[in-house]
Amino acid sequence: MSGRIPTSFIDELLVRVDIVDVIDSRVQLKKTGREYQACCPFHNEKTPSFTVSPDKQFYYCFGCGAHGSALGFLMEYEHLDFVEAVEELASGAGMEVPREAGQVFSGQSHHDLYAVMEKAAQFYRQQLKQHEQATRATEYLKGRGLTGEVAAAFELGFAPPGWNNLGVCLLAQGVSETQLVQAGLIVKKDSGGYYDRFRERIMFPIRDRRGRVIAFGGRQLGGDDGPKYLNSAETAIFHKGRELYGLFQARKAERKLERLLVVEGYMDVVALAQFGVRNAVATLGTATTHDHLERLFRVVSQIVFCFDGDRAGRQAAWRALENALPILSEGRQILFMFLPDGEDPDTLVRKEGKDGFEARVTDATSFSDYFFGELSAAVDMASIDGRARLVEQARPLLEKLPKGVFRHMMAARLAEIAKVDVSALGGLMTTRRSSSRASFRATPVKGAPSLMRTVIQLLLHRPALIACIDDWSILQGLEQPGLPLLQGLVELLQQSPQLSCGAIVEHWRAQGRSEEAGHLARLAGQPLMLSEDGLEVEFIAAVEKLVMLRDEQRWEYLESKVQLGSASDAEKSEYFALSSRGRQQ
Ligand code: UTP
Ligand code: MN
Repeated sequence: MSGRIPTSFIDELLVRVDIVDVIDSRVQLKKTGREYQACCPFHNEKTPSFTVSPDKQFYYCFGCGAHGSALGFLMEYEHLDFVEAVEELASGAGMEVPREAGQVFSGQSHHDLYAVMEKAAQFYRQQLKQHEQATRATEYLKGRGLTGEVAAAFELGFAPPGWNNLGVCLLAQGVSETQLVQAGLIVKKDSGGYYDRFRERIMFPIRDRRGRVIAFGGRQLGGDDGPKYLNSAETAIFHKGRELYGLFQARKAERKLERLLVVEGYMDVVALAQFGVRNAVATLGTATTHDHLERLFRVVSQIVFCFDGDRAGRQAAWRALENALPILSEGRQILFMFLPDGEDPDTLVRKEGKDGFEARVTDATSFSDYFFGELSAAVDMASIDGRARLVEQARPLLEKLPKGVFRHMMAARLAEIAKVDVSALGGLMTTRRSSSRASFRATPVKGAPSLMRTVIQLLLHRPALIACIDDWSILQGLEQPGLPLLQGLVELLQQSPQLSCGAIVEHWRAQGRSEEAGHLARLAGQPLMLSEDGLEVEFIAAVEKLVMLRDEQRWEYLESKVQLGSASDAEKSEYFALSSRGRQQ
C-alpha cells in the first residue's frame, strides 16, 4: 500500500494548475467575461450552462448542478478516484506525487509492472495470430460464436501449450525474472527455474479504468490442466475484489453509460458484447464487494445484477444486496435479474438475441421488490407474528442504508407491508441525530442553518474574508450543524489564506471526508447573490448573528440549570450577565 498524499501537496498542485487548462483540453471552453462556458459534459444540453471560474478555480453547471475543482472535474469526467485524479493532474503539471512517510511507496516498480503486463498482453495477442496451434484457439472462439472483431475489441489472446513460452520471450525483451514473478506471470520452481502461469488457455486481459493491463484471466482450451478459469494472483497492481472485467471496454464503447450489468463470467461479458450488449462487466470469481459497487456507481447511477436462477445465484444476489445497503442513497439504483435455470447470459443472449436479453433487463426486479419479496416469503404474512418477524428482520438491514429519502421510503414501505404504524419503526424514520444536550434546548432557532451556510459560502467564494474576524473563538459552544465544518474551514484559512475555493474543497476530500467535501462543493457552486462591495458587511453581520445565537443557546442552557438548581456560581453569574444584555425577552 502507498502512503497518504500530504494535503500540502494537493494545495500546491491546485495552485500550479489552472482549472481552465484542465477542462479546456477535454471540453472546449469559450470565454465570456471573466468566466468560461461550454455545453455541459455531464448532461445533454444545447445552450451552454457549464461555467468555469478562473478566480474561484471552480466549475459549475446551472443546468444539472455538477460542480467541483480541477480534481473533482477529472474524477467525474474521467471516472477516476481521488488518488488517480491527483496523479493524473500532477503528471500533467510535471509534478511528482509525494507520499507521507511511514508507509512504503514503490510507485516506480508499479510503473514497470504495468509495462510488463502490456508486453505480456501483446505476446498473447500475437500468439493467437501466429502460433502453430493458434487455429485450435480461433476455432474454439468461433465455436462460441465470437467474431474476430469482438476478439479484437477485448484483445483476446492465446497462451500456447508449453512451460516457458512467455518467460523466454519477455526475458529476451529485457524484462527481468523478478519482474515476471512480481507480475504473477511466471512461477518459480522450488528446484530452481520457473514456468509460465498460463498455459494452453484463451487469455482475457483485464484492464483497469485507465486502460492499463493489470491482470489476466485464462480459460482452459479443452485440456485438463488446472481449473477451467485461472485468474492472475493478487499482485501489487491487481486486487480482484476491486476490479471488474469489461468496465474499461464498456466505457470505451459508450461515453455516457446509463446503467451497467454485472454478470458472472468473462465469456458472458464478451458474448453479450458480440450481440451488441456492451454494458456488461464481470466480477472476477468473487462476490460483488463494496469496492466494486462504489466503483460502478461512480460511472453510472443504475446497476443491474444478473444472477443464475438457482439457489447459488439467489444466495449471491442476497449477498450483493447486503453489500450494497450502506451505499444506496437516492439517485443510486440497483436491480436484480434472475436467469432461467441452466442459462447464463452467454447462452441466453445467443438464444434470444439482443432484444430478448434487453427485455429481461428492462423487467429486472427493483431493489425494494426483491428485498421485501425475499423477506416476506420467509414468514407468514397473514399472521401478526409473521409480520412482526418481518419487521425484526428488515429493520437491522434498513438501518444500514444511509439516512435520507431512500431510507425513509423503504421504512414507509415496510410499515405498509407489515401493517404497522410508521411511528412503531422508531429510529428508522429519523433523519438526523439529535444532540446530546438537546434536552436543555428549546425549539431550534429558525434561520440559523442559512446563516451558517452564508458564512461558509462567503468564505469559500472570498477566502480573504477570514481576516474580517480577529477572534473566531467567539463561536465556541454554538450548537449548530455545520459548526465543525466552519471551524475546520477557519483553521485552514488562518494558516493558508491564499487557497482557492477549489483547493479548499479538496482539503476535505484528501482527508477522506467526502461528505463534507460534497457540502462545501455544493456551497461553492451556488452563485453569490450579493454585490461585490456588500460582501464584507454581509459576512460580518452573519457571523455576529451566529454569535448572538450562541449566546441565546447558552442562556437557555444556563436557565434550565438555574431552574433545576444545578448551576455553579460561575454559571449563575454568566446567566445573569447574559440576561442583563437583554437578548432574551
Ligand atoms: P463459470 O464456471 O460459470 O463459467 O464461471 P462460464 O462463465 O459459464 O464459462 P464458460 O461459459 O464455461 O466458458 C464464471 C466465472 O467464475 C470464475 C471466472 O471468473 C468465471 O468467469 N471461475 C470459474 C474461476 O475463477 N475459476 C474456475 O475454475 C471457474
Ligand atoms: Mn458460460
